[in-house]
Amino acid sequence: MTVTIVGSQLGDEGKGGVVDIYGDAVDVVARYQGGDNAGHTVVHDGTKYKLSLVPSGAVRGKIGVLGNGCVVNPETLFDEIDTLRERGLDPDVRVAERAHVILPYHRALDGIEEDEKDDLAAGTTKRGIGPTYEDKAGRRGVRIGDLLEPDVLRERLEYVVPQKKALAEEVFGKETGKAFDIDQLFETYREYGERLANEGMTVDCGTYLQSRIDGGDNVMLEGAQGTSIDIDHGIYPYVTSSNPTAGGATVGSGLGPTVVGQGEVIGIVKAYLSRVGTGPLPTELGGVEGQTPNYDGAAGADGDAEELATYIRDEGGEYGTVTGRPRRVGWLDMPMLRHAARANGFTGLAINHIDVLAGLEEVKVGHSYVLDGEETLTMPPTTEAWGRCEATLETFDGWSNVDWEAVAAEGYDAIPENARAYLEYIADELETPIYAVGVGPGREETVIVEDPYE
Ligand code: GDP
Ligand code: IMO
Ligand code: MG
Repeated sequence: MTVTIVGSQLGDEGKGGVVDIYGDAVDVVARYQGGDNAGHTVVHDGTKYKLSLVPSGAVRGKIGVLGNGCVVNPETLFDEIDTLRERGLDPDVRVAERAHVILPYHRALDGIEEDEKDDLAAGTTKRGIGPTYEDKAGRRGVRIGDLLEPDVLRERLEYVVPQKKALAEEVFGKETGKAFDIDQLFETYREYGERLANEGMTVDCGTYLQSRIDGGDNVMLEGAQGTSIDIDHGIYPYVTSSNPTAGGATVGSGLGPTVVGQGEVIGIVKAYLSRVGTGPLPTELGGVEGQTPNYDGAAGADGDAEELATYIRDEGGEYGTVTGRPRRVGWLDMPMLRHAARANGFTGLAINHIDVLAGLEEVKVGHSYVLDGEETLTMPPTTEAWGRCEATLETFDGWSNVDWEAVAAEGYDAIPENARAYLEYIADELETPIYAVGVGPGREETVIVEDPYE
């Protein structure tokens, strides 16, 4: 059977950790979209692994697959595999021949366009994700399978690279270098193709996964990013360029919707909101320069909200792992979660970071919005309307810090009563049962209520 893990908010909900806690019964973990824009953390025995492209099952020695819906940068993939090997793991990663390749010109163009876009910039990770999916949709992409066939690779590059060079130079007025040099690209990517072939890493993803399922194996489909940054269901244009939602799990893995639908779809929820990037955020607390729209800094800010934001940010470690930039934080947004529950058809919820909110006197949630004078319970379809939404907050009594590892060992009833009231409110509103509650980053700091594989 399959279990699909989907981010229900804006990414970084703790998907990697949930893949890990249920990972024991799993044989194969497949990513179905995105690329090295993801950062999935698994903490085990005090050791922290931050995975960008290698599926999180690698920490437990499970086979990892990058599905056809992914965009793969071979350079970062091999770097990551090599680094994990140096750390004592032995990642067994297969890559779909249908997956698209991120080339250096995609990265260059991602940076160039972000600078150009100004207010419309999503604050991308500059990994070339958007430009690669653009080329996929434009039928001018290079696929993993093409790297194994030098003549095909050459032909593809000769068609596309002059266009990319003209775009960078003539439209954006930038100088281009080796990232746009056909001969250099051909040599480097042909070699990546050889390594992929020599290490037996390429697969026909759907056929491979189906045969594993037919043989009785358990497959986990590991979503990256989150529903509200899905290109169709998210806050366009401040989104990523793929479908993290559960529908993406079928298209991006080659398993049929009935196969994925017979399994479980678990929505991963962070108990508050965090956001790396731009665009509106109705339940935001305080703000962050350069990301919060029209943020005018301490001068115009509400001191209490800023103080709360700093508390949650510090307790939750909500700072960019690469840049150290503070992330935007806010109260839980229920209209966003109702939207996610519907778009994904969640069968269960994993609610993380309950420990981060411990110590607050009151915990609030955005229960509904007021949009142009009307109450609404779900997200409006345009981001402009979302920006006009004012959250109507509900207040819950806070809970104190306790020995969370002991709570995880004892089980759900050991969670402080006020925190349980908060969790049950979320489950009731979404009409979805709670499968797991994260009370800390470690594998031992999760309350498991239901194991989808049992
Ligand atoms: P992902 O992208 O959804 O896999 O999430 P990230 O790994 O980017 O971010 C989640 C962060 O929160 C990581 O540092 C995790 O180790 C940590 N984390 C996950 N679950 C919990 C939890 O329940 N409590 C706390 N305090 N941290 C958690
Ligand atoms: P995980 O899997 C949080 C955000 C970026 C930006 C937008 C588009 O760790 O949850 P992109 O580089 O994808 O074109 O950027 O999406 N973003 C993420 N935010 N977690 C992620 O991944 C993200 N991947 C992309 O900040 O706003
Ligand atoms: Mg992340």
